[in-house]
Amino acid sequence: MSDAVGGTGAAPAFTPRVFSGIQPSGGLTLGNYLGALKRFAEKQNEGIETIYCIVDLHAITVWQDPARLRHATRELAAGFIASGIDPARSILFNQSQVAEHAELAWLFNCVARMGWLGRMTQFKDKAGKNREAASVGLFAYPSLMAADIMVYHATHVPVGEDQKQHLELTRDIAIKFNNDYGVDFFPIVEPVIEGAATRVMSLRDGTRKMSKSDPSDQSRINLTDDADTIAQKIRKARTDAEPLPETLEALKDRPEARNLINIYAALDGRTPEAVLAEFAGQGFGAFKPALADLAVAHLAPISTEMTRIMQDVAEIDRMLGAGADRAAAIAGPILARAYDITGMIRSRR
Ligand code: AMP
Ligand code: TRP
Repeated sequence: MSDAVGGTGAAPAFTPRVFSGIQPSGGLTLGNYLGALKRFAEKQNEGIETIYCIVDLHAITVWQDPARLRHATRELAAGFIASGIDPARSILFNQSQVAEHAELAWLFNCVARMGWLGRMTQFKDKAGKNREAASVGLFAYPSLMAADIMVYHATHVPVGEDQKQHLELTRDIAIKFNNDYGVDFFPIVEPVIEGAATRVMSLRDGTRKMSKSDPSDQSRINLTDDADTIAQKIRKARTDAEPLPETLEALKDRPEARNLINIYAALDGRTPEAVLAEFAGQGFGAFKPALADLAVAHLAPISTEMTRIMQDVAEIDRMLGAGADRAAAIAGPILARAYDITGMIRSRR
């Protein structure tokens, strides 16, 4: 074994590093904002390096119209910046431009087992009944996601609740790689699923996740919705006739009410308990307008800023390219060492 491989002794201390990604599959919702973007921006202030990726290679695991994909990629970049991600302080780029992701994903395809991937709920949901017709990419999606994270030796991954299973798989892949090759090369990643809104639910059905793929636009708030639309969607959100209770426990069987309380808390940077303490005893007639005002105050400036940023597409592309250069500088040496470990000869250098 070469020196580059490292020993099998005590686990090396990995420098904390944050990585996360979002697919440019069209449209950002309040769920993406509260579960991901808002928290990505907060992470910039924690003294840890932050790397954020627009995962265009993941998006094409289901077919995307190329022109729409280009638009969605730039719009997502605008969404990141408008949500407070500063391309000078964070590395922001699109995945396809750093080839190391796809290369490490291949190594991980040879580590991950068919059985592991077949158990992923996202695959089962997206593939639907006809698994034979799903793309191989959709099946292998989690090994590319593991590579996204591991190619930076990232240790912390902020995501919404729905990504927990993928992060457990990332840990399994890292552990198996380390075991198979007798190294302590890949860190065991920590999912960072925190805050009041790790799972924002549909405004129409409190048992379903708010999602850009829901056929009903009334079910979600889009980051591009204007103030009137946001207020109207919250006014019409499904609720019940009871007043708000004093305790969270009392909201156990009222998922729609619980969801609106969580959204309020996450937007306002408070706990759900604190929000209930303020609104206990009041009905939705009072709570909804307060929530609408809060949501508009937070989201309207983001949507305005996204529109402004989208005026200069060349500048977006330039910024993404600069981010990709910085990302590649980290990923290159890590991939090279992974190749060394697996026995690939460095014949070109
Ligand atoms: P996606 O849009 O599926 O690429 O998701 C991007 C990020 O947003 C991931 O971290 C998701 O976990 C998060 N996310 C998506 N939908 C929601 C939701 N309804 N509630 C909370 N987080 C979400
Ligand atoms: N699978 C994630 C989602 O659908 C997106 C993603 C791809 C990601 N690669 C990642 C998230 C790496 C965190 C880290 O939301």
